[in-house]
Amino acid sequence: MALSVVILAAGSGTRMKSSTPKVLHKICGQELLFYSIETALELSDDVHIVLYHQAQRVQEACEAKFGDRVKFHIQDFENFPGTGGALMNNRALIPTAHSKILILNGDMPLITAPSLQKLLSCSSPVVLGVIESKNPYGYGRVLRQDCKVQAIIEEKDASEEVKKICTINSGIYVFATEVLAKFLPRLDNHNAQKEYYLTDIIKLCVAEGYEIESVELDEEEFSGINDKIQLSSAEEIMLARLREKAMREGVIMHLPSSIYIEKSVRFEGECEIEQGVQIFGETLIKDSHIKAHSTIRDSQIISSDIGPMAHIRPNSYIQKTHIGNFVEVKNSKLYSIKAGHLSYLGDSEIDEGSNIGAGVITCNYDGKQKHKTKIGKNVFVGSDTQLIAPLIIADHTLIGAGSTIRKDSKEGDLLISRSEQKNLENGYFVFFKDKK
Ligand code: UD1
Ligand code: CA
Repeated sequence: MALSVVILAAGSGTRMKSSTPKVLHKICGQELLFYSIETALELSDDVHIVLYHQAQRVQEACEAKFGDRVKFHIQDFENFPGTGGALMNNRALIPTAHSKILILNGDMPLITAPSLQKLLSCSSPVVLGVIESKNPYGYGRVLRQDCKVQAIIEEKDASEEVKKICTINSGIYVFATEVLAKFLPRLDNHNAQKEYYLTDIIKLCVAEGYEIESVELDEEEFSGINDKIQLSSAEEIMLARLREKAMREGVIMHLPSSIYIEKSVRFEGECEIEQGVQIFGETLIKDSHIKAHSTIRDSQIISSDIGPMAHIRPNSYIQKTHIGNFVEVKNSKLYSIKAGHLSYLGDSEIDEGSNIGAGVITCNYDGKQKHKTKIGKNVFVGSDTQLIAPLIIADHTLIGAGSTIRKDSKEGDLLISRSEQKNLENGYFVFFKDKK
C-alpha cells in the first residue's frame, strides 16, 4: 500500500515531571517512541517523526536504533503549536507523501499493526479512530449525527453538554494526502489553548461534504501515556504480552505475574522460569532453568540452571553450568562448572569440570584496575578461597579451603595458604569463666 506514517512526538510531556523527554521513557526496557516506530515500519517504509522539545536528543536515540529508516521533521513550534501545527508548513512531508497518511502519536506504545489495519482498510478520505471510554476526561469528544462524525471538541473548549459525550478521539487518523494538504493551511488557533488543532480538520471536511469514517478502537491499546502512573500500567500490559509470547513459544513460567522480562530478552529451546525472576537487556536463555528471584542482565545462559537468588551481571556466558543461591557472576565465561553457593565470580574464565566451593571470591579489583582470573579444567577450589587476580590456575589444581591465592599454579599442584591452627586447652573456660 502507498502509505506514509507520521508519528507526532513534539510535545513536551510536562505531566511526566521528568528531564527525560516523554517519548524516551521506557517500558520493558524499550523507549515508548521505538514501539511506535517498529509498528510504523511494519506498515510502511516511509516513516516520519515530528519533533520539537529536546529534538536532538530524541533524534539521536532514534538514529542509534533505526539508522536512516525514519525521517525527522522539526515543528515550527513558536509559530505553529499544536497537533495541526506539527504538520503545517512542512514541504518535506505533505506534498511528497504517499496517497495515504497514517497519523500516530509517539506516546502510544501498545498499538499493534493488526489493529491499525482496521483503519487502513477503510476507503473514506478521512478515517478517525475513536474510543468508547468510561473516563473521557481530558480527551477530544467526537460529535456525531446519524452515526456521521461532525466535529471534535477539545476538553478545554467543551460545554458541559459536550463533556458528557463518552466517544473520544484516539488521536489516530488516516487521511487521503490530498485532503490533508487542502485543509491544513486553513487551520486557525482560535481556541482555548491558542494551538492549531489537527482535530479541526474534521469540521472543515464536513463543511465541504467529505465523509468521515470512524473506527472503534480498544481503549487499552490506544490510550496514550501522559504520566508515570500510565507508564507503569502500560508496562504491565506489555509485560503480559511478552510473557504470553514466551509461553506460547514453549517457556514454562511459574507465577508469571511476578516475572519481569524486557523486550530484548530471547528464549530458545525448553526453558523454565520461576517466580520473581527478572531478565534484562540483550539476554539469551536457552534450554535452561532459572530459579526463583534470580536476576540476569545482558548475558547468555545455555543448558544451565541458575539460582534461586543468583545475580548474573552483564557479559556473562554460562553454559552447561550449575549456579546456586547467592552467587554473583559478572563478565565471565563459565563452561560446564559448578558454583553452588555464595560466590563472586567476576572477570573470570572457568573451564570444564571445575568446582567452585562455597564462599569463593575472585578479588578482581585492586582499587585501581580490574584483573582476570583464569581457571582451567577439573580444578577444585575449596570453600572460602580468595583468588587474587590477575591469576592463572592450571588444569587439575586442588586448592585447600580458606586459602588466599595470589600465585599461579601448574598442572597437578595442591595450593594451600593457611596460618597454623593452635588448640589452647581449656581456653573456652578461661574466656567464659561462668560457664563451667
Ligand atoms: C490530542 C487530540 C485529542 C485526542 C488526544 C488523544 C488535538 C487538538 N487533540 O489531544 O482530541 O483525544 O490527542 O490522545 O489534536 N504533539 C506535537 N506537537 C504539538 C502538540 C502535540 O507533535 O504541538 C504531539 C505530542 O507529542 C503527542 C501527540 O501530538 O504525541 C498528541 O499530543 P497531546 O498533547 O498528548 O494531545 P492532546 O492535545 O491532549
Ligand atoms: Ca496538548
